Amino acid sequence: MRSNAVRGPTRRLAGRHWRLRLLAGVAILLLLLAVGCYNSKTGATNIGGAINFTLPVFTETGGNIVEIFTEMHFQPSYREGEIPRLLPPEGSVPITGAEVVPATVDGYSGLQVPSRAAQNYDPANAQRLYTVNCQVCHGVSLQGDGPIRPFMTRGPFPADLTATVTVQATDGELFGFISGGGRQGLSAISRGRASGSPMPPFNRLLTEEDRWALVVYLRSRIGQ
Ligand code: HEC
Repeated sequence: MRSNAVRGPTRRLAGRHWRLRLLAGVAILLLLLAVGCYNSKTGATNIGGAINFTLPVFTETGGNIVEIFTEMHFQPSYREGEIPRLLPPEGSVPITGAEVVPATVDGYSGLQVPSRAAQNYDPANAQRLYTVNCQVCHGVSLQGDGPIRPFMTRGPFPADLTATVTVQATDGELFGFISGGGRQGLSAISRGRASGSPMPPFNRLLTEEDRWALVVYLRSRIGQ
């Protein structure tokens, strides 16, 4: 009885790990098929047709596929150590209330910085959010001259966030652009189209509060 009690969950855990590995593998494959490809002979890598750079050449050895994307959660070492996540039940809502997601681009324009996000605003944290998530494209200067820019062979290129058109956008619109993956990205996804913008939709990467913190941060640097 006792050995069963121990073996049951362990086996379930192993099964889950196996499934997680398969899922992660499929996700990486889809990611590469959808947005990028890597030539294992030359190291040439292309992401989304627009960003080109060269990675070291990794020889593929039999079934040991070399994973070129080194983001933390794609690393086998990390995946091994990751505990099964306890996801909230489907349809559950945070105690602070669910995010209001406008159906159209216009729906964003009237949104204002929620008071909680304004009260909790921490400039150092917002700067960190910008450095980690945005600077690679929009640059230290905000002018769209981040380190990725020389590797981009076609547009849309990272926007100059100090441009009048961005300064004149409302806080709600900025929030929408960040959430939907840029002005072009938001416009595309709100029409049910695939986004042609290389900017990722941050509604799936950052919390609502972090995205509002970035709006306040941008405002503090570009004015109006
Ligand atoms: C992979 C590159 C990339 C990253 C990372 C990125 N952006 Fe962008 N961003 C773009 C591109 C390209 C555009 C122009 C195309 C578009 O609007 O979709 C853009 C447009 C925008 C716009 C719209 C500007 C306007 O007025 O038209 C805003 C605001 C913006 N980005 C903010 C951010 C913020 C804040 C972050 C970080 C959370 C971020 N971006 C991360 C590439 C990026």
